[in-house]
Amino acid sequence: MNPFMFLNPVRVYFGEGAAKHGLKAELPQVGSRILLAYGGGSIKRNGVYDEIVSLLKTAGKEIIEFSGITPNPRYSEVQACAKLALEQKVDFMLAVGGGSVIDCVRTAAVQAMLDEDIWEYETVQHKLPRDAIPMGIVLTLGGTGSDMNWLAGVNYEEKHEKVTFAGKHAVFNIIDPAYTVSVPTKQLLTGAFDTLSHYMETYFGKGSFVSDEIMEAIMRNVIRNARTIKNDPKNMDARSELLWDSSLALSGLPGAGKMSDFQCHSIEHWISGYTDANHGRTLAVLHPVVYRYIFSAAPEKFARFATEVMSVDTAGRSPLETALAGIDALELFIRELGLPTNFTELGIDVDDAMLETIADQCRPNPGCCRQLTREDFLTILKTCAGK
Ligand code: NZQ
Ligand code: ZN
Repeated sequence: MNPFMFLNPVRVYFGEGAAKHGLKAELPQVGSRILLAYGGGSIKRNGVYDEIVSLLKTAGKEIIEFSGITPNPRYSEVQACAKLALEQKVDFMLAVGGGSVIDCVRTAAVQAMLDEDIWEYETVQHKLPRDAIPMGIVLTLGGTGSDMNWLAGVNYEEKHEKVTFAGKHAVFNIIDPAYTVSVPTKQLLTGAFDTLSHYMETYFGKGSFVSDEIMEAIMRNVIRNARTIKNDPKNMDARSELLWDSSLALSGLPGAGKMSDFQCHSIEHWISGYTDANHGRTLAVLHPVVYRYIFSAAPEKFARFATEVMSVDTAGRSPLETALAGIDALELFIRELGLPTNFTELGIDVDDAMLETIADQCRPNPGCCRQLTREDFLTILKTCAGK
């Protein structure tokens, strides 16, 4: 087991009526000028906006709105959000949405307290933020796990780079499964795969059996409930289970004592930086391809994943064959959910020059069982592109 410091300070309010109970408990403890941030308008169509605004007004808060945050949030949106927060002397930020809204707000909350550009501060000077405007979350879509951690993925359009900024944990996180009823099934299943990916990316890293055993149980839960949603999209128990699976994934608990892998995520960030591809769907393409490429470096672990998570029968199979059967079963599961397994199905247009450029940028992650080279990245990308 690797040494670790575990802390997750986020207060979670989960279940029916969570916004009412949670905001009633939390709002008296925060300032009076609240920046309410959201995306393209789903919260206005499903009634979440009205409910949250009413709770904020009842608590006597002044509301400053920042809307229109896009999926794969842009750096320019972060800057605009930070500028508004400063101009309006906001003392608390409430992100109502999925990973994109949360990540935009988390980064803006830091930018608003910095005298310099956060890009320069974090990615060039490699400094961690000291301060941020405090933020709260009302989650409307699971999958990313961003609600429980302190990181944020932001797309810097001109640089074609999706950066992971460091920010701060939210003060509170409100998760009401009823708020996700309007999420299309395709998006729910995409989120479920993102969650599964977070566990796999941690599981295949090095160290800690207790964490691995916790994750095996949760991964089985994700797979079972994603199948339930596929056949019965309105099933609230399955939605609830998937939401909590998602939030736990990046809470720090499953990763305690692990050196995580996150090789697929880091490749995904470069692909998304160039193509604006959907996060979870790109991961669905990458996982089987990357795993077929690396599994022989850790056959026992992949064989264990095959039996404990994908229910592969070991009879008549060598450990290597079992490991490979587990990856085949993972790909079948991805297809079963209707998710893509190549770039064409993902709907992105990539030419050879773009693949070469992305391969130049990709870096090996130390937690991955095989240290990939630039040529390995190119082969993986070409396989995803069917070349
Ligand atoms: O913008 P609106 O109109 O709200 O619509 C959104 C958006 O179009 C819609 N949506 C959200 N809640 C809904 C809903 N539609 C109907 N009913 C609801 N209740 O869903 C669409 C996608 O939203 P988005 O927030 O982009 O999705 P997701 O939660 O998958 O977030 C993806 C982002 O999170 C980052 C990804 O890179 C990507 O940028 N991630 C953040 C992480 C972190 N901070 O730790 C980790 C993850 O691995 C991931 O990288
Ligand atoms: Zn993810």
